[in-house]
Amino acid sequence: KALVSTPSDLSSSAETTPAAPKNLRHEVNRRRTFAVISHPDAGKSTLTEALALHARKISEAGAIHGKAGRKSTVSDWMEMEKARGISVSSTALQFEYDDHTINLVDTPGHADFSEDTYRVLTAVDAAVMLIDAAKGLEPQTLKLFQVCRHRGIPVITVINKWDRPGRTPLELLDEIDERIGLTPTPMFWPVGIAGDFRGLLDVAKHEYIHFTRTAGGATIAPEEYLDADAAAAREGDEWTTALEESELLVESGQHHDVDAFLAGRTSPVIFASAMLNFGVHQILDALVSFAPAPGPRPDVAGGARDVTDPFSAVVFKVQAGMDTAHRDRLAFMRVVSGVFERGMVVTHAQTGKPFATKYALTVFGRERTTVENAYPGDVVGLVNATALAPGHTLYAERKVEFPPIPSFAPEHFSILRAESAAKYKQFRRAVDQMDSEGVVQILRNDLRGDASPVLAAVGPMQFEVVAARMKSEFGVEARMEPLGYSLARRTDAESADELNRQRGIEVFTRSDGVLLALVSDKWRLQYIEKELPHLTLEPLVAAA
Ligand code: G4P
Repeated sequence: KALVSTPSDLSSSAETTPAAPKNLRHEVNRRRTFAVISHPDAGKSTLTEALALHARKISEAGAIHGKAGRKSTVSDWMEMEKARGISVSSTALQFEYDDHTINLVDTPGHADFSEDTYRVLTAVDAAVMLIDAAKGLEPQTLKLFQVCRHRGIPVITVINKWDRPGRTPLELLDEIDERIGLTPTPMFWPVGIAGDFRGLLDVAKHEYIHFTRTAGGATIAPEEYLDADAAAAREGDEWTTALEESELLVESGQHHDVDAFLAGRTSPVIFASAMLNFGVHQILDALVSFAPAPGPRPDVAGGARDVTDPFSAVVFKVQAGMDTAHRDRLAFMRVVSGVFERGMVVTHAQTGKPFATKYALTVFGRERTTVENAYPGDVVGLVNATALAPGHTLYAERKVEFPPIPSFAPEHFSILRAESAAKYKQFRRAVDQMDSEGVVQILRNDLRGDASPVLAAVGPMQFEVVAARMKSEFGVEARMEPLGYSLARRTDAESADELNRQRGIEVFTRSDGVLLALVSDKWRLQYIEKELPHLTLEPLVAAA
């Protein structure tokens, strides 16, 4: 069954011509596009499954995640991808909730953590930061959060696994406040300590939502709403504690404020158990009420494309080799403005060439559904889009070009060598292709020459993808040799020579022209910064 629904008023394409701005505005306002940022094991797959369950896409949880004894799933398709050494696809799940269309864009993020994980965040308007109640903030969550902060993406915080022993609520919120300077504002507070999750206090309404467990959390947990007196009578001290703790924070100024949330200064907090389906529809309610609808996107000319302007979209990920039988390439675009209608011929801004959109899909794991129409905020996969690369723009009618997606700070470095000198031409072509698609960052310097460029990646999986594609698409066997560097800093021509004379440092030029100094380790970096403070060594952020 299709995982994608089309609003019923779109069934006839005659009603969806761009000449219907009123309908367009309505469609934009009811859209929410978000991603879940988390560290592996925090429960992202379980939450995705639970969200889809709430949206009544899947009659019983388990259809996505795939556990022993549960239904066959999308994730075994992903296993297949992994077995072939090709990165897991970025997918988008679209569903209807409370008269809204929700787009959940998946952030690949386990062993396959890569530049794509960050790029996805250029396609969303909000993020749910999912935290394990026993572990608190973890490294991958922090990295992704920094990208959100940099791009001004508002964040809703979900403390997951409250059904299991963990830290106290105040400890968890303090950590968020102190470590990342984000002020948590309690929205749904747990009644019962971690491991004894009885329900949630709706902080604004002073209402109690009591949950009842269902078998294995496989169906939506029945909820019972009680007023404060009834809650106190039923839960006693647990209720009083929840009230006191949340009020303590609210009275000290930690209360929800729309402007502060949208500016990324505060984050509403919801306690939940994705596994038991507790607190899940509260997350959806928070997205619908607080997360912003799609808005205008700045263009390279210094203006902005408004959502009601003619169609435009930005490509945020390209997936090659998803289907070996067809050797297809899927480019995922996020619609920025106007109405997308399958079959329309648009312009590829980077080449000025026309691009036909006959094969437009939504992809969620194994599910591929043809898309007839899409609106700002929606994600559409385009088949065999060979010319498209992340950051590229497509538009109709009025020209627009969006700024490129920035390259993110790499942490893994390898020298790439062709196994056979005879295939050098194919090798170079393959390297250029990987570079232009943004599969990996390519670094060069005079010392090493062109025959063995250095690959720089955010996650090691990117190297595997390069090797697999070089072989399957270009017939080139290539070898990677890890380079002994672990971090990169932006530098300039004035500093390059002196840096190159230091031990444990080497300067390269990235294909976008940026000079990168690769450094062996953070102690080396600290030493150079202290001893040679006149040299330029700037941290590479996920520059906006
Ligand atoms: P991820 O995608 O973020 O990596 O996490 P995933 O959903 O796969 O969850 C990681 C583990 O945490 C899974 O257990 C999952 O069942 C468990 N989990 C997720 N949410 C909750 C929750 O709210 N409460 C509890 N108690 N556990 C939760 P696993 O044992 O690794 O796998 P499985 O055998 O259950 O699939």
